[in-house]
Amino acid sequence: MRKKFIAGNWKMNTRSIDGELLAASVVKGLGAETRVTVAVCPPFPFLARIAQAVKGSPVALGAQNCYPKDDGAFTGEVSPAMLVDVGCQYVIVGHSERRQLFKESDEFINAKVHAALKAGLKVILCIGETLDERKGNKTEAVLDTQLTGSLAKVTAEQLGNMVLAYEPVWAIGTGVNATPQQAQDAHAFVRKRVGQLCGAAAAEALVIQYGGSVKPDNAATLLSQPDVDGALVGGASLKAEDFLAIVKAGIR
Ligand code: PGA
Repeated sequence: MRKKFIAGNWKMNTRSIDGELLAASVVKGLGAETRVTVAVCPPFPFLARIAQAVKGSPVALGAQNCYPKDDGAFTGEVSPAMLVDVGCQYVIVGHSERRQLFKESDEFINAKVHAALKAGLKVILCIGETLDERKGNKTEAVLDTQLTGSLAKVTAEQLGNMVLAYEPVWAIGTGVNATPQQAQDAHAFVRKRVGQLCGAAAAEALVIQYGGSVKPDNAATLLSQPDVDGALVGGASLKAEDFLAIVKAGIR
């Protein structure tokens, strides 16, 4: 059975002090609970400090982005090796905000996937359709294109170090979450398609998170769907109490 995985994407929020307090509260609230996997993904400047705050606890550390090179003349960028160096286990790749605001292509995202895996990070790869695409009945076609492009040349073995996050763009930060059935349908499609790309056994073991306005009051129903294996939480991950309530909904 796939263990649920709840990750908090803090996005470009917090300052060092409140980030540390937030991480400390998550660590305290989670205690020794290991029936659910938990990670927090703070902004780059705070990663090293938050690494200290979660040290020795089951709370894992993730970054929100990376550049697909080890070192070099890439002003302003951060390499996967640097993320490992400061204590990250995970990196989020292909978030819709990066796809839309920073025009990241599936090809570029695929390069990040390979670079991050090579450095020893686990990758949380985000995919999802816009409202127009959903209204135009293009959801599956969009997911198909994103999966084919971002998972190019990913083997079944590499998929074992990946997590997918289905995040319908229209549900992110809007307060309008996908219905449990919409999430389940998309997740089942993603799992089937990943099976064709990387092999059925690897797809069956793959954790697929749902993201988009996950809150304490909708987490349990979303997480009860058979193919919804966790949540990538934005806004609600900035309040320890709310994030921990979502984590709790993932325990069974
Ligand atoms: P949200 O963000 O929970 O604030 O909708 C989710 C995400 O973008 O990962």
